[in-house]
Amino acid sequence: MCGIIAGVGEVNLIPTGLEMLKNLEYRGYDSAGIAYFEKGEIFAQKCIGGVDKLKECCAFNIDSNVMIGHTRWATHGKVCLQNAQPIIQNNIALVHNGIFENYKEFAYEFEQNDLTVSDTFCWTKYLVKKLEELAFISEESVLQQFKQLLDNSRGSWAICFLYKYLPNCIFFAKKDSPMVLGLGDRCIWIGSDEYALSQVCRKVYHLENSQYGWVSSKNLRVYDKFGRECDIFWSKICNDLKESKTQNDCIMESEIEEGIDSAIQTLENFDFSYVSKFLKNISPKTKLYISGCGTAHNAGKIAKFWLNKHFPFVEVEYASEFLVNQQNIDSNCICIFVSQSGETADTLKCVNLAKERQAKTLGIVNMENSSIANLVDILILGKSQKEYAVAATKSYMAQLAALYALSSCVDIEKSHLRKVDRLKELLLSLKNITIERIDDVVELIKDRQSIYYLGRGMDYLVALEGALKLKEVSYIHVEAMPAGELKHGSIALIDSDFVSIVLSTQNATKEKMKTCISEIKCRGGKVVVFSPFVDVGQMGDIWVKLIECEDELAPFVLSYPLQRLAYLTAKRKGFNPDKPRNLAKSVTVE
Ligand code: G6P
Repeated sequence: MCGIIAGVGEVNLIPTGLEMLKNLEYRGYDSAGIAYFEKGEIFAQKCIGGVDKLKECCAFNIDSNVMIGHTRWATHGKVCLQNAQPIIQNNIALVHNGIFENYKEFAYEFEQNDLTVSDTFCWTKYLVKKLEELAFISEESVLQQFKQLLDNSRGSWAICFLYKYLPNCIFFAKKDSPMVLGLGDRCIWIGSDEYALSQVCRKVYHLENSQYGWVSSKNLRVYDKFGRECDIFWSKICNDLKESKTQNDCIMESEIEEGIDSAIQTLENFDFSYVSKFLKNISPKTKLYISGCGTAHNAGKIAKFWLNKHFPFVEVEYASEFLVNQQNIDSNCICIFVSQSGETADTLKCVNLAKERQAKTLGIVNMENSSIANLVDILILGKSQKEYAVAATKSYMAQLAALYALSSCVDIEKSHLRKVDRLKELLLSLKNITIERIDDVVELIKDRQSIYYLGRGMDYLVALEGALKLKEVSYIHVEAMPAGELKHGSIALIDSDFVSIVLSTQNATKEKMKTCISEIKCRGGKVVVFSPFVDVGQMGDIWVKLIECEDELAPFVLSYPLQRLAYLTAKRKGFNPDKPRNLAKSVTVE
């Protein structure tokens, strides 16, 4: 994870660099820092916390035309100033996103079992040593030493570093972590994503794996893993990214509100003939795998329900588990990868694996030009535009819409347009609906340590995401469970203090849900019901009334109130829902 910004040019880059770094805070905000040259010396400012705090530390006149910056999400080594980046050692300032897996080979003996030291901190020492070996210092000789060390390193990296003796130069390298070069006005920027560069660059170049090089205000050299110099083909920056984000107090709230539109836009943008062509030769015997992480995985779980009508064999795996249980992936499979950012390391690794096995790959990705979007055989865009709040909300709605449209493409009755039109109609009707009594639910759950989310079938699958959302931003432990499983153990926790949130939107399972509520009520447990059905709703202590729709479309109706419940609970507890503790939006390390 972590976000990197680096720039070199002919003007003072610090104010712009700090603004750009702010745009990368979604990648982590444990600590932040910059390093820069001033009068031939390297200086640094670092802090624990986010970029706003860093800006306070930099509130004096810094004037530098060469800088590197970093915002950290800790993986190895505790959150402290020593591990905050840039790491400054001897004559080097270095920022790194990724993990040096064999960093212990580089660590001193006394550091071998010291979990407080970061991999980057240890690795930098070796770079220092490598550069000390140099008899003659030039951009190319430094680069060779850097490359040799990388060749002996395992893991993933996007790295930039400054070296005191070449004060107009930034060295960089990329492997399995995103890194983009950008052409600005009299300067060149390097960033972890295109979005960070979008406000100041006209053109971008996405570095490929194993490329490395150096850049100064006058020169840019990029080499491939064999040391051959590469041509750079600049492309125009994606226009969608230039739009400014919603200026609301709370971004998560705005994004929840934008969810319905994101789903509608996704359907409008969906190219049925393109997708149908891809799916044309698929027999019902084809094995379909769906994979992703977190919210994207939860969207995939729902898609299984839709796709199962046509494909008996659909498996949904967390990307990290897909990597473990990969023995059945072969050229007879279609692998569908779902990702908001298109950069999540676990998911990216799965795409590479599926491609190696010659499976067909399809991506449902919200960020155009992201690594996953560029890699898959066929891309379906989730049109949620850039999402800023860490907890995924509108991107989930867009993913659901894309997956529903996809499943309708394989509808043997060829009724896909009818189905999608009906979904659009439902989404439009949801735009004018006010959901009542969520505030009462917030009051009931806000002080609980732990609660259940219960549902059957489709409702259980939506419960998984509802639970994740509430957990992420309100820090209440929430367990989503198939309602029928309650009596097989978990009911032991039910007493008069315990709250269960029951989801019941499915006609097929409604009677069973009534039994489940009874089982809880007769043990004194509190029940909140999200349902359109009067007979189920009235059994709850609180009934959040939903509109009724076809069973298979219910996730679109349920998701909004569950997202809002999570957001309002976080606010009520005084937490910032946009930046939950310990989380980052894009997890680019395995
Ligand atoms: C992180 C985020 C989650 C997100 C997951 C997958 O864990 O905190 O909100 O669902 O990554 O991210 P992706 O960008 O691949 O959808």
